[in-house]
Amino acid sequence: MTAHSFSPGTAGVSLSRLAQREAGAIERLPIIDAFGRQVTYLRISVTDACNLRCVYCMPAGTVDWLPRNELLTYEEIARVAQVAANHGVNKFRITGGEPLARSGLPDLIRRIYRIPGIRDVALTTNGTLLARHALALKEAGLSRVNVSLDSLIPERYSAITGGGRLDNLWEGIDAAIRAGLSPVKVNVVVLKGVNEGEVSEMAALSLNRKIEVRFIEYMPLGESNGCSRVASGFEHVPSSETKARIEAKLGVLAHIDHDSTFAGPAQRWKLPDSEGSIGFISAMSSPFCGSCNRLRLTAQGEIRSCLLNGGQVSIKALLRGDGGEHRIYEALQSAAMMRPREHQPWTRIADGQMHMIGG
Ligand code: 5AD
Ligand code: SF4
Repeated sequence: MTAHSFSPGTAGVSLSRLAQREAGAIERLPIIDAFGRQVTYLRISVTDACNLRCVYCMPAGTVDWLPRNELLTYEEIARVAQVAANHGVNKFRITGGEPLARSGLPDLIRRIYRIPGIRDVALTTNGTLLARHALALKEAGLSRVNVSLDSLIPERYSAITGGGRLDNLWEGIDAAIRAGLSPVKVNVVVLKGVNEGEVSEMAALSLNRKIEVRFIEYMPLGESNGCSRVASGFEHVPSSETKARIEAKLGVLAHIDHDSTFAGPAQRWKLPDSEGSIGFISAMSSPFCGSCNRLRLTAQGEIRSCLLNGGQVSIKALLRGDGGEHRIYEALQSAAMMRPREHQPWTRIADGQMHMIGG
């Protein structure tokens, strides 16, 4: 662990004062937003591209992926991660699109893993390409993976994901467990009238496997581009309903102590006598903005202040110019200052596509 000497009460840190400092001589100031929340977690999207087309994530019709030269290089991403780590970020998650759709991902994992003080490098993946990469990812320093599993029925899984094959996913999950990428978390986006009837069977996966099955309330992001409940007829199912369904079939769930390293915004529970656990992520019925500790780096080099709204700061030019550590820190701090206390009501959030932001 590196010795970071954080000064308290730096929400109003003077950036111009900071900018005048010599690179390398700057204090290791934390990244703090206007409401005193410290940023300790960076989600990094490495690509907007994906081999699947989940109905809750991608718009209908053709999607043009970003050209390669628009994406940050792994070296550039690692540079941002290094500066973030110097300023108190100790947890990273790689997202997409589908991160494994971009070649050489273990190279990036290795670069981030080697940064002193990093506690955790995780990956969110759809899992369909995981079987062939799990071992290399583990060897590069990856801690664990989250995979998406929205149905146990092959035809329904294929319909939700736009052609995904469930057997590829199972091979991926097994390979991840064998490689020790644990605990493997399985994400289920619960959609009213689509997969809500399967939640007990999904929860039962945690009975004799060391996995965490996490039920996520569908978020209607991107009304204007066909991903929303309004445009597509999807509705979220409140976690309270999902939990009641599971308990009616499988018995009363026991609450597990909140583990802030691994749980994030999930409320965690356990079925009686189970090896694994169950989580609920309730962004719709119980927003968790108050404890938000994250920033996002998009594939094309914006630091996004909030998943849903609030501004963003582009750092691509900085990284490709002469941006030293203090300029990158300033950009991270500026993005943090753009974070709203809480996001706008859902009805007013109309932009953004999940695969562009990284969830
Ligand atoms: N609502 C909720 N979760 C979503 N994800 C993607 N789009 C949405 C959405 N609209 C989550 C899924 C997936 C991960 C990449 O992001 O859980 O597993
Ligand atoms: Fe691809 Fe993940 Fe979006 Fe599904 S949720 S389309 S797997 S990026």
